[in-house]
Amino acid sequence: MRRALRDHVRGRVGDYRRVVVPCVGSFAMVEALVDEGVDPKVIETSDVSVYSTLVGFLLDPDKDPRDVGFTVHDDDLRTLFEALPRDGQVEFTAAALCIVKVVQIKGKSEFRRWQRLEFCNQMPTMYQKYLEGLKTHQKKLAGLSYVVRDGHEHIRTALAEADALIWYNPPAYKGGYTKMFEPDGAYSWNAPEIAEIDMKDIESFYGELNGAAAHVTLYAEHWYPLERLDWTEFSKDYAEVYGKSDRTIYLVTNRGRKVVARPKKVHDVPARRPPVYCEQEITEDSVLAMVTTTKELATYYYDLFIKALGVVNAETYFLFVVDGRVVGTVGFMYSSWARNRLSHVFEVFGITPTSVRYKKLNRLLMMYLLSGECRDILMANFPQHESLMLPMLKSMRTTCISKYAEVKINRGILKMKSREKMKGGRFKLVYEGKFNGKTGREVVTEWVTKHGQVKREE
Ligand SMILES: C[S@@+](CC[C@H](N)C(=O)[O-])C[C@H]1O[C@@H](n2cnc3c(N)ncnc32)[C@H](O)[C@@H]1O
Repeated sequence: MRRALRDHVRGRVGDYRRVVVPCVGSFAMVEALVDEGVDPKVIETSDVSVYSTLVGFLLDPDKDPRDVGFTVHDDDLRTLFEALPRDGQVEFTAAALCIVKVVQIKGKSEFRRWQRLEFCNQMPTMYQKYLEGLKTHQKKLAGLSYVVRDGHEHIRTALAEADALIWYNPPAYKGGYTKMFEPDGAYSWNAPEIAEIDMKDIESFYGELNGAAAHVTLYAEHWYPLERLDWTEFSKDYAEVYGKSDRTIYLVTNRGRKVVARPKKVHDVPARRPPVYCEQEITEDSVLAMVTTTKELATYYYDLFIKALGVVNAETYFLFVVDGRVVGTVGFMYSSWARNRLSHVFEVFGITPTSVRYKKLNRLLMMYLLSGECRDILMANFPQHESLMLPMLKSMRTTCISKYAEVKINRGILKMKSREKMKGGRFKLVYEGKFNGKTGREVVTEWVTKHGQVKREE
């Protein structure tokens, strides 16, 4: 999105007398605007969180982060806080952010306790990191202004001004930021009494943006209430669309140029790519393997196999390799296993190419995913599992969004755990499969016998 916003304002930055960034969060988008040539002096930012306020008060020349009333109440944390240098503005901000960060690691699980302890032990190192980051921010962004203010109120001040640019990325998940920055009594600050914005507010607020004289740019996803904006019929010239696939992210604007699909650049294709499966014969002697890979390579094969640019987000990526050729790309989430000590992992995606030779190539991947061999690889790939004494993985879950009440390719392999009809009529289906004790050799033998003869009808 940073790149999209930079592309969008390129060549126009000299036109803006005010650049208004409410809900500024981590200042990442402000940085993008400055990189594109916007003068920090014309940038007005605001937010309601302790994080943004500390950083904002540091960057605003008329403010001082020591004035936000940040006080640590928890005895242990106060000892840690007081051990850190915090005389200057930037030092104070770094020390306060360390405390905010520890308190942000919530939860009673052993994993969370361990994470908090780790963070406290590492606090001097984290402090140095924050300090360096803040100094870099200062060099680039100092001079902007920051206020604690409701985002919608802030935007309203600029809507009628033709030489104002507004960038608005609203909080989309109800209460998400309030929860994230809940101090739980560990510290306090002069927190404002401003309710967190949520989708309900956004829905009515979008209506106010119609007819704005200012140049309005919005972050939006496909499910945002964009129909409220009379300038966002995507087929018309008034929107810029970035990204494709199910989870589409849009930079929506009232000063659009024609919608242009951005072709993949040559340098987006990873330079080193293992060879891909090309209708080679798979026999009982074939060797199956699951190897870890980068997000870059995993998504490269994802795009290649399903011919769409996927916005896929997993925590760990693997390639499924048969006789040295890539036959699948898989992404997993380990969080629930580790965080809540559950006995399952989530498969975010598992994709094979379409083969003419084998109609049921996908089954080979699915069968391998549920093998004991694959389970052992998954566990070994989460190096902390032994020290945290995590439970043995028993099963794998995956969610399918489908027009149909059942997904046929899962039949006989995965069991449906739940089915929920979503708004718009599609189904959210959660499937689960138990790991068995099979080896790769057993899996391939079984697959060759059962499915190896089934060709795709052409
Ligand atoms: C999605 S983040 C913004 C990210 C940031 N704009 C960016 O593009 O990098 C949403 C932010 O809105 C802030 N927020 C929530 N309710 C608000 C309100 N009523 N007024 C102003 N900011 C609010 C949160 O504290 C959070 O930092």
